[in-house]
Amino acid sequence: MERADDAGVYKLSEDLAIIQTVDFFTPVVDDPYRFGQIAAANALSDVYAMGGKPLTAMNIVCFPVKTMDLSVLREILKGGLEKMKEAGVTLVGGHSVEDSELKYGLSVTGTIHPSKVRTNVGAEAADRLILTKPLGTGIINTAIKAGMAEDKSIEMVSNYMARLNNTASEVMQEIGARACTDVTGFGLLGHAFEMIQGTGKGIIFHGSSIPVFPDALSFAEMGLVPGGTYRNRDFRIHQVDMDPNGSPYLLDILFDPQTSGGLLIAVPEEKAEEMVKRLKERGVNEAAIIGKVVNDPRERIAVNLNR
Ligand code: CO
Ligand code: CO
Ligand code: CO
Repeated sequence: MERADDAGVYKLSEDLAIIQTVDFFTPVVDDPYRFGQIAAANALSDVYAMGGKPLTAMNIVCFPVKTMDLSVLREILKGGLEKMKEAGVTLVGGHSVEDSELKYGLSVTGTIHPSKVRTNVGAEAADRLILTKPLGTGIINTAIKAGMAEDKSIEMVSNYMARLNNTASEVMQEIGARACTDVTGFGLLGHAFEMIQGTGKGIIFHGSSIPVFPDALSFAEMGLVPGGTYRNRDFRIHQVDMDPNGSPYLLDILFDPQTSGGLLIAVPEEKAEEMVKRLKERGVNEAAIIGKVVNDPRERIAVNLNR
């Protein structure tokens, strides 16, 4: 199918398509079990972002056998398996290689009815944009590496990164959305741009409505910002109109690359409140309407502090 984005989609028959995706990366937290959970949740997310249901997965492992104890790998795989169980996914195999740098992730296969596929394009003017997890994981992970983050903050961010986007995806499909993607490496603004690119539409975000992790702004002010944030910003900044009263550090957060971030969902205006209500009822507590799709500005994103 054309325009599949977060994952590849292949139509097998009139009522069945498969969704395929692969994601793996180096550790973002010290705890190997946690890292396994996060890497699995992150890989599964691309199936949820298409609106599909993941069925099977394979482990992908790069491991420094000569310098690291195998018990670390066992913990990573246990964490990954725990998330697969939670997702109702069967582990059917995997592949490992020796590598000087540890990496872990999954290739995932899911299914969906071809008419139910939610790509990242299709949003229309006046649609509301809903985000289902707070922003700032890249900045806080940078603070963790610098030894600046408190345990409380590490625990909170790890919990969110390990959280599956399954409920958000189910609610999106129940209520009906026009477009969806998950917020990962390009940050909120980068992924939001992909939703409007070539469509003639624009986006207005309400800066004050965007959920952000408590310490992210102060870490950004201290310069604890990953290199990816600056790459994302340099690539897109000429298409962004920032409120002149906004903190420049807010842009760091809006361009911050997310690990296992939330879904960004475009939903018809009249369904938006209902979707947020149902998301919160089902435990997606931070879900919020953070902006809207507009005809003007065209293929630009405005960030306003107030509505
Ligand atoms: Co994605
Ligand atoms: Co991906
Ligand atoms: Co093999």
